[in-house]
This record gives sequence, structure tokens and C-alpha cells, in this order.
Amino acid sequence: AGRTLVIEEGLTGPELSVLAICDGHDAVALAPAQDFKRLGDGDAGPNTGGMGAYSPVPLATSAAVNDLMDTAVRPTLAALRARGIDYRGVLYCGLMYTPTGPRVLEYNVRFGDPETQVVLPRLTSDLGALLAAAAAGDLAGRADRPTFDDGAAVTVVCASENYPTAPRTGDPIQGLADASAIDGVSVFAAGVGVQDGCLVTTGGRVLTVTGQGPTVSEARRRAYEAVSMISWPGMQYRTDIAADPAG
Ligand code: GLY
Repeated sequence: AGRTLVIEEGLTGPELSVLAICDGHDAVALAPAQDFKRLGDGDAGPNTGGMGAYSPVPLATSAAVNDLMDTAVRPTLAALRARGIDYRGVLYCGLMYTPTGPRVLEYNVRFGDPETQVVLPRLTSDLGALLAAAAAGDLAGRADRPTFDDGAAVTVVCASENYPTAPRTGDPIQGLADASAIDGVSVFAAGVGVQDGCLVTTGGRVLTVTGQGPTVSEARRRAYEAVSMISWPGMQYRTDIAADPAG
């Protein structure tokens, strides 16, 4: 595996992630987000699991999302059903907005990370009811359509030294309490453990720091203010998350 590479088509353009909640027959989209896959500012360096995200994304209008649901997500559910798969859960659609229109690059059967850390904080309707309706195969009958606040969320991933090649672990983490106390900020721990009573890094992507605010620029300001209070030896993060929202 991996010794032969087949290049079908090179695609260029901004990327977009749409999480669709599926009930086996139908699906509803959550608010779109944009992820930043490369390690360094300006999309330099190796691919990662994602170094930050923001939502909403100006280019992802509701017409564009409806079009995606009709042309990609619902036909995919129908194709799964035709193969005997009753897919209920989250369908993650990774898209690229090419000069000739949106194209689906990948599907995952899970939430996205770090997209979820900007999508769910904006959700104003009941996530539990939505997921229960999807699990029961009855989105239309049992749940209201998901609604989102009018504001924005920006999240910045803080990663350990040498992520993604050989992340170093065991570094003591400082500043979490102060960062979490900022208004509109939530800190999500991923690769964090406790050693001798102190928080330490235990993985590559260690924390995700989400700022929320009325605009992307205010959400971004809060996220980066919080990130500036957090530290450990070798901590890395991008400084350009949501600096130029794709419109
Ligand atoms: N952020 C990319 C993924 O969750 O696959």
C-alpha cells in the first residue's frame, strides 16, 4: 500500500466542512466550518488533523449548503440504503470550493475535530433531541431543525513539540485556569493528563481554545488572548486562524 499513487484530478480552492446529522433516509446540516489542515501559518508545513477552525464561513451560504445536501448527502444516504446500510449518525463532508463548484473530497462517519469545537458552541437548539431523533430514524417527526446563534466562533489548536511527526509528551501545562476565565472562551482538553497533581501534555493536539463573539474578528481576538495565557515547553499553534475568512 502507498507504493502506487493514482492522481485523478488536482483540485484547488478553499475547503469547507459540513457535518450532516442523518437518520437513515434524510439529513440536516449543522453550521459549516472551515478547518486549517497544515501545521504552519500561511498553510506551510505538513498536514495535521487540523490546527484551527471557524464558523460561520461566508462562502457557505444556506443555498450552497442546501445544494450540497441535495446533490451529495441525500444521494449518498440513498446509495448506502441500496447497499443495505441504514446510516444514522454524523456524516462529515469535507469539501473543496473549486472554480467549477463545490466537490466532496472525503466523508467521515464522525464529528470533525476541530470543527466541532466551533459548530456546537454556536448551536442554540437541543443537540440531544436532534441525535435521539436521528437514532430513531425520524428527524422530521421528532426534532426541530438545528438553529445557531448569529455570532461567530474561532478555535485554535495548541499542539505539542514535534507534532505531527513525533509529538513530545509529559510537558507541564500552565495558564489554563486564567485562559478559561476569559469571557466567551472555552478550552477543550484532548491530549491532557495529570502527573503528580499537575496538568501535562499526553498527545499531539493537546488543547483547543475556542473564542466566541458577535463577529469572527472578535471571536478570534478572544481565542488568541486565551492562547497567549497558555504555555508549555515547545507548544505550537498557528497565528493566522480565521485571519481571512473565505468569502
Ligand atoms: N478536521 C478534520 C477531521 O476531523 O477529519
